[in-house]
Amino acid sequence: MNLESKLPDLGTTIFTQMSALAAEHQAINLSQGFPDFDGPAYLKDRLNYHVAQGANQYAPMTGVPALRQAIAAKTQQQYGISVCADNEVTVTAGATEALYAAITALVRAGDEVVCFDPSYDSYAPAVSLAGGKLVRLQLNPPAFKVDWSAFRAALSPRTRLVIINSPHNPSATLWQADDYNQLWQAIADRNIFVLSDEVYEHICFTAEGHVGALEHPNLRERTIAVSSFGKTFHMTGWKVGYAIAPAALSAELRKVHQYLTFSINTPAQLALADMLNAHPEHWQQLPAFYRAKRDRFAKALAGSRFTVLPSQGTYFLLVDYSAISELDDVAFARWLTEHAGVAAIPLSVFSAGPFPHKLVRLCFAKQDATLDEAGARLCRL
Ligand SMILES: Cc1ncc(COP(=O)(O)O)c(C=O)c1O
Repeated sequence: MNLESKLPDLGTTIFTQMSALAAEHQAINLSQGFPDFDGPAYLKDRLNYHVAQGANQYAPMTGVPALRQAIAAKTQQQYGISVCADNEVTVTAGATEALYAAITALVRAGDEVVCFDPSYDSYAPAVSLAGGKLVRLQLNPPAFKVDWSAFRAALSPRTRLVIINSPHNPSATLWQADDYNQLWQAIADRNIFVLSDEVYEHICFTAEGHVGALEHPNLRERTIAVSSFGKTFHMTGWKVGYAIAPAALSAELRKVHQYLTFSINTPAQLALADMLNAHPEHWQQLPAFYRAKRDRFAKALAGSRFTVLPSQGTYFLLVDYSAISELDDVAFARWLTEHAGVAAIPLSVFSAGPFPHKLVRLCFAKQDATLDEAGARLCRL
């Protein structure tokens, strides 16, 4: 048999590799983005409740109505925009499925998709499997700002989709209203859609806060916005997310979702609906919760030889290690795990080629004791 891979360049993701290396060396795992603490007790209680009540059969394909309505209400509260729970909100298996379904629904063979590197690692394989071509535009530290003239130059008659991500993983920067204006001006006259990955929408630290793509009235008509309850409720293992898009775009996304997963875990959806309705303060207080962790960890690193870049959002900090090592970032991340007992993610894995900066990403979604111990270890270098 001749098994010709459709994704020949892809191996195990760096997140899995670094987590395995961290376990092997009993290192503190600040590599993969997940909390080392549990989500709200109320949410767990509601899951138990709905399981006990027998809510254990298939959910409706688009998501249980109570959850779609709660998502629409939260969207209204946070962004001041009204979305139709029936036609514009789709519950998915984490943001990952929403991203995959959106790309599969929109990208045709030969289409071009623009993304900004460093970028989250699930975009490229999905574009490739859809037969599309990814056009990668480089963002550079420390501000990771889009060069809008380079963006306009990168558009072609084949451009079908632009993938954006704010708050941005891994750079921890945010888009401002002007970025969305620039994006709109560049694509207004073209048949281009936008996939906006906003999984960290509730984790941002600037005075302006997170600006969502849906808040831009023109972009809203072209955009599929994606979010994840895993990030918001510290339950990454539940894998429940959602996509919001105009009815016609949602209908296309649902055609893929229908045959990818069909529907999502029923009791988890009902529990999340209860949580959103009963405890909106959870997501409203998330910026303060994570700001305290960011500040604690940044302070712990102040005495180290790392240079800490500002983190405006997400639960990541970038640190520059050029005062410590000449190694490239992949080698340094491995060395750090083995010799300092702290696992990090190299930035080059978010780009097609080597990332020409000495930066690694550290996750601060950890208990204070974990952050203090990691800080102490990193200060010894
Ligand atoms: C930018 C970004 N998008 C999407 C995801 C995937 O989210 P989920 O776990 O809900 O599939 C992640 C998870 O780390 C992420 O950082």
